[in-house]
Amino acid sequence: MIFNRHLNILIIIAMTLLSISCRQKEPKYKIGVAQCSSDVWREKMNEEMRREMLFNDDAYLEIRSAGDNNEQQIKDIEYFINNKFDIIITAPNEAEAITPVIKKAYLRGIPVIIFDRNIIGDSYTAYMELDNVGIGKTAARYAASLLKDKEGKILEIKGLDGSTPAAERHQGFFDEVARHDNLSIVESRSAAWNGEKAYNLADSLLSIHPEINLIYAHNDVMAIGASRAVKEKGLDNVKILGTDASPELGIKAVIDGEIDATFIYPTEGNRVIRTAMAILKHEKFDRKDHIPALSTVDKTNAEILIRQNQLLKDETEKIRMLKEKNDDIGSRHRVTVYFLYAVGLGGILLIVVIILLLKTARQRSKYQKILTDKNKQLEVERDKQNTLYAQLNEATHSKLVFFTNVSHDLRTPLTLIAQPVETVAKAEYLLPQHKSLMNIALKNIRILRRLIDQILDFRRYENGKTELSMCEITPIPLIDEWMSSFHQIARERNIRLISHLDISDNRTLALDVEKVERVFFNLLSNAMKHTDAGGSITVKAGFYDDCFTFSVIDTGVGISKEVSEKIFDRFYQADKIRPKGSGIGLSLAKAFIQLHGGEIKVDSTPGKGSEFSVLIPVTHVDSTVCHTADITTINDIKAELEEIAPSDTPVETDKPILLIIDDNPDIRNLVGELLSDEYNIISAENGRSGVMLTRKFVPDLVICDIMMPVMDGLEACRLIKDDISTSHIPVLMLTACKLDEQRLQSYDSGADGFLSKPFNTEILRSRCRNLLLNRMRIKNLYTQQTLSPGIKMKDSGRLPVNSEEAKNQVESEFYNTFLKLLEKNYSDQDLSLDFIASNLGIGQTQLARKIKALTGMSPVDIIKNYRLKLSRHLLLTTEKTISEIAYDVGFSSPAYFTKCFRKFYNESPSELRSNKSM
Ligand code: FRU
Repeated sequence: MIFNRHLNILIIIAMTLLSISCRQKEPKYKIGVAQCSSDVWREKMNEEMRREMLFNDDAYLEIRSAGDNNEQQIKDIEYFINNKFDIIITAPNEAEAITPVIKKAYLRGIPVIIFDRNIIGDSYTAYMELDNVGIGKTAARYAASLLKDKEGKILEIKGLDGSTPAAERHQGFFDEVARHDNLSIVESRSAAWNGEKAYNLADSLLSIHPEINLIYAHNDVMAIGASRAVKEKGLDNVKILGTDASPELGIKAVIDGEIDATFIYPTEGNRVIRTAMAILKHEKFDRKDHIPALSTVDKTNAEILIRQNQLLKDETEKIRMLKEKNDDIGSRHRVTVYFLYAVGLGGILLIVVIILLLKTARQRSKYQKILTDKNKQLEVERDKQNTLYAQLNEATHSKLVFFTNVSHDLRTPLTLIAQPVETVAKAEYLLPQHKSLMNIALKNIRILRRLIDQILDFRRYENGKTELSMCEITPIPLIDEWMSSFHQIARERNIRLISHLDISDNRTLALDVEKVERVFFNLLSNAMKHTDAGGSITVKAGFYDDCFTFSVIDTGVGISKEVSEKIFDRFYQADKIRPKGSGIGLSLAKAFIQLHGGEIKVDSTPGKGSEFSVLIPVTHVDSTVCHTADITTINDIKAELEEIAPSDTPVETDKPILLIIDDNPDIRNLVGELLSDEYNIISAENGRSGVMLTRKFVPDLVICDIMMPVMDGLEACRLIKDDISTSHIPVLMLTACKLDEQRLQSYDSGADGFLSKPFNTEILRSRCRNLLLNRMRIKNLYTQQTLSPGIKMKDSGRLPVNSEEAKNQVESEFYNTFLKLLEKNYSDQDLSLDFIASNLGIGQTQLARKIKALTGMSPVDIIKNYRLKLSRHLLLTTEKTISEIAYDVGFSSPAYFTKCFRKFYNESPSELRSNKSM
């Protein structure tokens, strides 16, 4: 890479150097020629200029022709000005029209050479004046000699009136004619240097003036035009004189007998360029260069002149060839020089390349080594990972095998436990508290049995041993039947269970009824677990195309996309902190549906709810004998809906929960044993897990050691007191340290009591009791306040912050906030615990436990009581209808309101109204 970069830079440098040296030299001077027209005479002049340029390598020549048009010529001159030409050479078409632009160039400091035709004034650097007056005179003299003693009647065809040569030639001709008695000018008219115009002019004037015997034209083009007219008229005696004597035109016309003579008007292109170069190089030059023009061409010398001209042309050609050769040699020389440069540069490049190559090779071998090492490391890592992976697989497999075996082994003892427990539970002689304990045992036996069954079913499926027992059934009425057991529980939990089933649909399909029932049971009980009071669950089923589908839609907590993707995985638990199941139910459901060739999926939005849907392709079988799962009894459902008790969960009885935090297991056991008859004991071995358990179970009392690993008791106490969900829990510090300082620290951290080890059992009991009693007193105060809201909740329902009993400001503030939220939102039918809890910044469970600890009532009951008391007040003091009041205070239906009201007040709202009016 580095090598490539260096090489690229070198190549770029080399190319730049080469291109700079190879570039053609820019000419030093730019010469612009603005010709007024293009014809043979001017082409000859242009050719002469180009020839002269062969000897001026440092100059560049551009010739523009205006085609006898003033505007065009002005534009051409402007072009030279704008493009910063170093000198402008021009033959102005008409003096008056072109003078201003020439003046402009001249004033801008651009040297200007005027030749052939002049301007008005002298705004030029040099004027190369051709002897036009002389030409006119020579023509007149030649006419006189041609006609000798004859009377000469002359037609003069002039050039363009505005151009200076026309005026000057006429002047010379006129003056000289006057000196000859036998000559007179019959007509003098302009044909503007144009052959066609001259033809027309001659044609008409010869008709008018048959006496004309000589035509003098200011150029050969016009002379040839007039000659055509003369020939056409058959006038043999008319002599024709032209001007210019260009070999290809005028001289040729003389040889051909078209005209009688022509007068050389010198082109002098080379002379013009030489003057230009002298000006550019600041050499000497004539500002007014007078070029004589006196030679006459007629039959006597025309041939010689043509030959001479040809010779000149040949020589010019030779010069051009020589020049080309010279250029060629020059460029070959340049190429050779460039080649040498290139070779030199190439050599340098080669050396640099070799150095770079060597360097790169060294670096490469270094990187190669690093790479090889890295690769080796990676291979070792990969091998390690593979081994780990294999070990993990092996471990998982062994675990599963172990679970399966244990599950098998557990089944028999479980059955043996279940039967006696069931029998004892039915016994009539049991004390009520023992009966409730037996019911707990029964409930957990059921849970355990289901778990074991699920594990075994799943293993059977994974081993490919699950078989379907298909029978033909009408699924929709069956689902309706399965749902019936859930209705009561839904009511108890204040969840609306909605059935969207068309039970008259008697289409059939083949299903393993037992397995599908278990799937349905699982989905519906999951929905129950995750939907709060006030929510709803909808069950839908139907046939679509060739499929049967059913779905369970809840308005519960919902699940994230990430969780949705894994929810059907084996043993996946969405809520790792508070798992609501073993994590096997949904994977088993998926397995069962897949066995039917169908699919199960979930569509969920966190905070809004979930939809689990099952799709099974419709097939048919002959058998109508179905095995049912027989699981949808209310007790089964209740057992399923119970949270599975983790090992550190206290058994649910009415006894208060006591958490012991101590790193010494003996102390934990001892305190536990001492107090287990009065409390449900849970324990933690250090401050950190103690705080976690406190948050999880919100116990009624915490006994905490001070010196502990991981997190000491003081820190744990501080955290418990700082967390609004646990701050109300009394904490009793228990320590071997008797130092006053520690005692102080304990109180600083918020502890409610302090006891030093070794402690007297009775004192411990009494301290715990006292702390709880204190709580109870506060609780009573809260309860009283809570139970007497209503008419003016804002003033009377809240706790006085500085109340003697409610010293703890944090608690009363928390409770007041809870009441405020209730006051604000009681009319909202959808008011949920989740909403209140999140507004208070704690979890739902913590809110429930905390409110219970503060008031002895559940938050749901407090809300309900509050609504009922308010409704009573409204019934007594307003004219509103019962329905209006029911909705006003937040009940979802008047019927449900009436039911709750009667239960609470022992009379219905309408009875209260009628009693009031009596
Ligand atoms: C060429 C030309 C010549 C003439 C000269 C006068 O354009 O017409 O034939 O001699 O211009 O400027």
